Amino acid sequence: LKAKYLTAVASAADESALEEVRVAALGKKGEISALMAGLGKMEPDQRKAAGAMLNVVKDEIDAALRARKAGLADAALDARLKGEWLDVTLPARPRRVGTIHPVSQVMEELTAIFADMGFAVAEGPQVESDWYNFDALNIPPEHPARQEHDTFFMNRAAGDDRPPHVLRTHTSPVQIRAMTEQGAPIRVIAPGRVYRMDMDQTHTPMFHQVEGLCIDRDISMANLKWVLEEFCRAFFEVPSVELRFRASHFPFTEPSAEVDIRCSWEGGQLKIGQGDKWMEILGSGMVHPKVLKAAGVNPDEWQGFAFGMGIDRIAMLKYGIPDLRAFFESDLRWLRHYGFAA
Ligand code: PHE
Repeated sequence: LKAKYLTAVASAADESALEEVRVAALGKKGEISALMAGLGKMEPDQRKAAGAMLNVVKDEIDAALRARKAGLADAALDARLKGEWLDVTLPARPRRVGTIHPVSQVMEELTAIFADMGFAVAEGPQVESDWYNFDALNIPPEHPARQEHDTFFMNRAAGDDRPPHVLRTHTSPVQIRAMTEQGAPIRVIAPGRVYRMDMDQTHTPMFHQVEGLCIDRDISMANLKWVLEEFCRAFFEVPSVELRFRASHFPFTEPSAEVDIRCSWEGGQLKIGQGDKWMEILGSGMVHPKVLKAAGVNPDEWQGFAFGMGIDRIAMLKYGIPDLRAFFESDLRWLRHYGFAA
């Protein structure tokens, strides 16, 4: 009997076959268990001898079962390790990852550059009341500049008595908000989205500007010129840039100047700092006394400059991108071509 089961244990090919052997021998209805149960009907000394012997047999079979079980588990593990091995030295498969959009990247860069010059960041809403967007900036309702702004107006239902709102056409309303909140002296930039109904190679209906505002007791156009040149050198990473100040007109600055930067087109490549072309990048000037007044700042005590720069424009120049519209088409092939996406 013992030999029969030891042989069965040894030849069980897997754990379930082994379990069958265990049940047949030691299970409740197993052969050994049945013999054990039979002990009760024996004479005392017969029972003693048979019981001792049965116990030995049972223990031996039990030990063999355990040993075989451990052996089978080891073998199963070995087989798995052989079958499922992994070469950790293989190079990883390339995986596409998301990246920061070039315009966001440029916003972060310019914020850092202006921060080095002491400018904090100010913010305002993209849906702006027409008072902040126009009136406070010395553009009264009948002013022709209102038409030139190609404004998106917010719908108002009949009976809605909230003041009229627009999608802000420039970041200049943030000048008013910042001065009203913080007073003077003040040195802030305000990067953000602005909207105008305009669409061609260099215009999109949504684009980005960064407003600059610096008010103190004796800030002048000379300070403006230095700040802009310093910014351009740092931003375009060139030792020097040539800027051109063109006399211009904005209702909210007096005097006003538009600023162009030297650039060139060579073999379809846009280059910055050199060449025969000028690219307009910003409007600027000395903040108009009426604007200071509208924001609660005394123009007899304070003065300073403001500028509004096209972020997408300077991003195009920095990365040599000819068509502004591509920035906002989310075309992965385009983003990858310019190295903006993996
Ligand atoms: N807000 C003007 C524009 O959008 C730019 C500007 C800002 C001009 C500040 C002067 C001063 O064109």
